Formats: sequence, structure tokens, C-alpha cells
Amino acid sequence: MSAYIFQIQSTLIVLLMFYGIYHRKNRYKHIRTMKLCIIWDLLLIVQIELTRGAIVKASKALTNPAILNIHVSLAIATVLLYIVMLYTGTKLKNNNESIRPIHRFFGLTTLTVRLSTFITSFLVI
Ligand code: HEM
Repeated sequence: MSAYIFQIQSTLIVLLMFYGIYHRKNRYKHIRTMKLCIIWDLLLIVQIELTRGAIVKASKALTNPAILNIHVSLAIATVLLYIVMLYTGTKLKNNNESIRPIHRFFGLTTLTVRLSTFITSFLVI
């Protein structure tokens, strides 16, 4: 049952991410939407951990199926990329224009990695 609730939230987060990127020129909307995405995604990880002990399960990398290890690696990469997005996004908000290409590059990387996490999550249910 809880798996469906997690998948629904995950779908909404990915859709929200597309919405926020679509509004990338509207600073107010973009920043609010992306921060909401990041916070919600982190809360989703907390929910999965509390209901399923995901961290202990994930740490058994040597015995886990390869697809689960791939999914866990993508999920960890997403969280690390969120830190990069918050850092570069704040600089850009403070009119540091030289960081724009870096924010753009990591923004598209974050979207790709988050989408891959989403797709692989259906393969490990
Ligand atoms: C996963 C999270 C995020 C993604 C995928 C993302 C993606 C993007 C992309 C693709 C652009 C357009 C860059 C360009 O082509 O010029 C952009 C612009 C921008 N982003 Fe983000 N972003 C994210 C999070 C954030 C956060 C957390 C902040 C602020 C703390 C932020 C602040 C900005 C600002 C200020 C701009 C420039 C808007 C303008 O042109 O006036 N972003 N973002």
C-alpha cells in the first residue's frame, strides 16, 4: 500500500520539477517551486526510511540486485545534486551571472538523474 503513496508523491515531484524548470525565467516562481521540490523529495526519502528501513536495506550492496544498487546510487546522486542546485541557485539569485552556465548544466543533469531515479524505482518495487 505505502509503495503506491510513495510512487504518487514521486510522480508529483517530477511533474513539479518540470513546472519549475518551465518557469525558469520567472525567478519568484522558479525558486519557490524548486525549493518545494527539493524539500518534498527529501521528506519522501525520510518516509521511505521510516517505513521500510531503506538505508540498512540499501547498504547491503554486495547481496542486493544490481538494479537496486543502480537505483540507490541515482537517489544518492540526486540528493548531492540538490545541494549543488541550492548553492549555484542562491549565487545566481544574488546576480552572480558567471555561475549561470554551471546552474544550467547541473539543472539539466539533476532533471536527468531524478528522472532515472523515478524510472528505476518502478523496477525495484
Ligand atoms: C533541481 C533544482 C533546480 C533546477 C533543475 C534548476 C534549473 C534551472 C535552469 C535550467 C535555469 C535556466 C538557466 C538559463 O538557461 O539561463 C535556472 C535559472 C535560475 N535558477 Fe534554477 N534550478 C533549480 C533550483 C534552483 C534553486 C534552488 C534556486 C535558488 C535558490 C534557483 C535559482 C535560479 C535563478 C535565480 C535562475 C535565473 C532566473 C533568471 O533568468 O532570472 N534554481 N534554473
